[in-house]
Amino acid sequence: MSLVAPEIWKTLLRRAPAGTACSALYDPLLAPATAPDGCFVLGRIAQSLDGRIATVAGESRWISGQADLEHTHRLRALSDAVLVGAGTVRADNPQLTTRQVEGPSPVRVILDPARRLGDHYRVFQEGPPTLLACAAGTPGPERLGQAEILPIAMNGGWVDLPSLLVTLAERGLRRIFVEGGGVTVSRFLVAGLVDRLHVTIAPLLMGGGIPAFSFPRTDLLTDGMRFGWSVHRLGEDVLVDVPLGRQRPGPSGQTTSGP
Ligand SMILES: NC(=O)c1ccc[n+]([C@@H]2O[C@H](COP(=O)([O-])OP(=O)(O)OC[C@H]3O[C@@H](n4cnc5c(N)ncnc54)[C@H](OP(=O)(O)O)[C@@H]3O)[C@@H](O)[C@H]2O)c1
Repeated sequence: MSLVAPEIWKTLLRRAPAGTACSALYDPLLAPATAPDGCFVLGRIAQSLDGRIATVAGESRWISGQADLEHTHRLRALSDAVLVGAGTVRADNPQLTTRQVEGPSPVRVILDPARRLGDHYRVFQEGPPTLLACAAGTPGPERLGQAEILPIAMNGGWVDLPSLLVTLAERGLRRIFVEGGGVTVSRFLVAGLVDRLHVTIAPLLMGGGIPAFSFPRTDLLTDGMRFGWSVHRLGEDVLVDVPLGRQRPGPSGQTTSGP
């Protein structure tokens, strides 16, 4: 069972912004997880029109507008866990709580394989529970501030994300909201572990900056990922909702299903 109570879903959907196609946008998030690991993974990115999520210096607040901010907090409230990479904690010192909408704050999961983050960040000092996912065997104290350490096996130099999802599911954390940044969302995509992807595109050209998606290079168009999507207006921004169903990039257009 997901930790999200059904009445919370209903409250949040009722309060979604006028003009949002609530049912089409949020109903898929209510569906039971079908993957063997028991998790439903939603990836999310807010990017400029030219595909950047932050300036080279790391500034990302705010690329998208207020409606997208509320949408993001709504997605947190609908999730058991919100997950971000160490780069986002370092750049933004986020709280990852629901302050723009009613609804519970999820458990926070931080991916910091080498345990390079200090304990002064807000996720380690205040608010709801935090799990720090690191490479198994990394030396360090038993906790980082209030955060519990979650040792996870490595695979090819990266935290093994299938193992992480199984570990989270064992704790009852099954609705996983991967909120950023670009490296983290991309690793989930490459692993074929994203059920749904929300990308907000803001009317902004940056000319450079931190990329939204970074994959192994494709030489052929047919090696890219291609999919259907639905488009929603969020204030001045456009939100594309991609039902990925755990597809991942494959050679010569052979998009394969993830584990
Ligand atoms: N616009 C948006 O939607 C949005 C959302 C969030 C953040 N941001 C911005 O994006 C920037 C950060 O994004 P980013 O792409 O540079 O970094 P990120 O995804 O936040 O963090 C990347 C780091 O997390 C760790 N990590 C993530 N996945 C891993 C895996 N599977 N295995 C092992 N380690 C993993 C690695 O840490 P190590 O390097 O320590 O190994 C990696 O370098 C910031 O400037 C932030 O403000 C924008």
